Amino acid sequence: MDPSESVRKDKKSYRGDIMVTTKVVRNYYNNFLEHLKHDHKKPNLRHIEIKKDLSGIIKKDMNVLDLGCGTGVTTRYIAELGAKVIGVDLSPKLIEFAKANSTHENTDYWIGDITKINFGKKKFDAICLCDIIEHIPREKIPDLLKNIEKYSFINTIIYLNIPDARLQSWLRKNRPEKLQIIDEPYSVMEILGWFGSINFEAIKIKIYGVNLPLQYTSYIFVRKDVFFHSYNIHLGNK
Ligand SMILES: C[S@@+](CC[C@H](N)C(=O)[O-])C[C@H]1O[C@@H](n2cnc3c(N)ncnc32)[C@H](O)[C@@H]1O
Repeated sequence: MDPSESVRKDKKSYRGDIMVTTKVVRNYYNNFLEHLKHDHKKPNLRHIEIKKDLSGIIKKDMNVLDLGCGTGVTTRYIAELGAKVIGVDLSPKLIEFAKANSTHENTDYWIGDITKINFGKKKFDAICLCDIIEHIPREKIPDLLKNIEKYSFINTIIYLNIPDARLQSWLRKNRPEKLQIIDEPYSVMEILGWFGSINFEAIKIKIYGVNLPLQYTSYIFVRKDVFFHSYNIHLGNK
C-alpha cells in the first residue's frame, strides 16, 4: 500500500473506532506499561541496535533530550554514556516507572506532549526520537518539528529510529492488531523532507532488521549549515 493512502483526515485511530485525543493516547500508553516492562527483564533487540547507534553519537557532558522516552531504557543508557539527559513522555505511568527503574544521576524525567512541551531557552546537543515519531499523527508533525527546531542549535545532532514504512503498511493491511493506537507508515522521503524543512540533513541512514528484514530505519541528522561551512572551508566559495 502506498503510505500516503493511510493519511487519516478524519483524525481517527488506525482501526477507525475511537477518536485520538491526547487523553485517549495517554491512557493507551499508561496501559502499555505491562508490555514495555518486558524490556527491563530481557534485553530488547531493537534497544541493542539503538544503543550501538547512540554510543557513536553521545559524548560526555552533552545535554540530551530523549523524546517519547517510555520507561527510560534509552534515557538511562544516554546517562551512562556521561551525558545529562531529559526523558519526556506523555504517560505519567511510564514516567513513574522510568523514575523508579531507569534512574541515574544524569537523568531527569518530565511528563509532557512532545508536540507542545516548553523548555524555555534551553538548547540540546542531541535530540533522540526512538520509536516515537510514528506515534505522532501526521497533522501534529509540524508542531513537533517546530519544537525540535526551537531547542536545537548549529551543532545539534538528531537521532531517529522508526519502524520501516513498508513493514508498517503491511501490518496495517494484514495484522492491524499488532499496531499501536497511532502507528503511521512514515517513509524515508517524508522524513528527509520534514527534517530538511527545519534545516537538518541526514548524514547516515541505516535500514535494518532484528528478527525480520526491512524492520527499522535509523537516521542521524546534522544542521545543513555544518556541511556548507565545511564545503566553503575545504573547497572554497567563488
Ligand atoms: C513505542 S514507545 C517507545 C518508548 C521508548 N522510546 C523506547 O524506545 O523504548 C512510544 C512512546 O511514545 C510515547 N508518546 C506517544 N505520543 C506522545 C506524545 N505526543 N508526547 C510524548 N510522548 C508520546 C508513548 O507514551 C510511548 O512511551
